[in-house]
Amino acid sequence: MDKLLIEGGVPLSGEVAVSGAKNAALPILCASLLAGEPLALSNVPHLNDIATMLRLLGQMGVAVTMDGADGIVLDSGGLNNPVAPYDMVKTMRASILVLGPLLARCGEAKVSLPGGCAIGARPVDQHIKGLQAMGAEISVENGYVHAKATRLKGARIVTDMVTVTGTENLMMAAVLADGETVIENAAREPEVVDLANCLVAMGAQISGAGTDTIRIRGVERLHGGAHAVMPDRIETGTYLCAAAATGGNIRLVRTSAAYLDSVVDKLLDAGCDVTVERDAITLKAPPRLKAVSLRTAPYPAFPTDMQAQFMAINCVAEGAAVVRETIFENRFMHAVELIRLGADIKIDGNTALVTGVEQLNGATVMATDLRASASLVIAGLAAQGETLIERIYHLDRGYERIEEKLARLGARVRRVR
Ligand code: EPZ
Repeated sequence: MDKLLIEGGVPLSGEVAVSGAKNAALPILCASLLAGEPLALSNVPHLNDIATMLRLLGQMGVAVTMDGADGIVLDSGGLNNPVAPYDMVKTMRASILVLGPLLARCGEAKVSLPGGCAIGARPVDQHIKGLQAMGAEISVENGYVHAKATRLKGARIVTDMVTVTGTENLMMAAVLADGETVIENAAREPEVVDLANCLVAMGAQISGAGTDTIRIRGVERLHGGAHAVMPDRIETGTYLCAAAATGGNIRLVRTSAAYLDSVVDKLLDAGCDVTVERDAITLKAPPRLKAVSLRTAPYPAFPTDMQAQFMAINCVAEGAAVVRETIFENRFMHAVELIRLGADIKIDGNTALVTGVEQLNGATVMATDLRASASLVIAGLAAQGETLIERIYHLDRGYERIEEKLARLGARVRRVR
């Protein structure tokens, strides 16, 4: 298993380009199932999760053609196997996103239940409830969701809680349904909007994406199209936190701060200078950060996917901060590893009290999930001495060429096999 070896204490400086958004690309790849014509995507990040999704679609009969550095053309004209098997779904929960499109296009689907992961139980009851409201017959047997529908019917759906992939699954199911679907309490995340924009480019009729009420008027069929995946706001936020924690000064290009207001606000509160351009963002850290409390919540509030990274900042800031995680029930796995680096963190349920220390000291730590791994990288970069991060396959799921990009910013980091 690969490990990441970091010699900390170097302020990051320089410029790197941000990749396409993993959490926009994953549902957009599934959207290719809806039209029997080619969907040409660009700015697709090269990540393990993307490769897993492409394998999953390929075994269904989707023709996948790589096109240059970050382009992919998907043609589901030969779609002949509406099945997502357990051995593929167990490695990536986002596989559940094929359920809605398969039902809409084929009238049937057999998708393995994703099961939980390190950060929580991750149920998909809202996905199922919404599809049943649209007329699907769904049974869950032997760990699989079996779904059938001659043709889905438009419905008014109110999800019990805000769910990002739930909203995306239901939106994709609705684009070919008979009549209008209204999704209330919909997720407002930018990745939902990016998916809607791609579906509209394919001929879907969608309004309200980005608000909590999305209206989809079903059409007979979708056609092929082209779409550029939006920049990854979480990768952007992660590098900004790394620069802040190391007292650095960096510029990120091919990205936008438009979707990171809540994170930029917290970085400003921590004493950073942040300059926003149309497709770039610059951060200059203060000599010592100030601790900043935060509470995660659905967009546009502070994103749960940035909680672990910001906790690493608070570990080396001046003062104490309260970090409250309201989305997932077990998303503090990084805390015990940060404590191994010398952090002062006290956990009480979904609340963490972080008291900043003058300095962290390198140690061997273990990654447990994608964003927890990013948190350990940030802490390792800030710590004095060597930090060895084990199980970094978690990192490779969501960060493209992370050691290359960090090295370009002056970090002393290398991957060891
Ligand atoms: C998406 O996961 C993201 N993944 C996650 O990013 C992100 O953390 C999460 O949204 C929240 O923003 C992708 O987009 C591929 P939810 P998702 O459904 O859709 C509960 C990363 O690091 N819930 O919005 O699975 C659920 O348990 C990943 O890139 C139900 O109870 O999250 C959670 O407590 C991690 N029943 C809350 O809702 C359901 O049917 C929000 O989950 C669905 C969700």
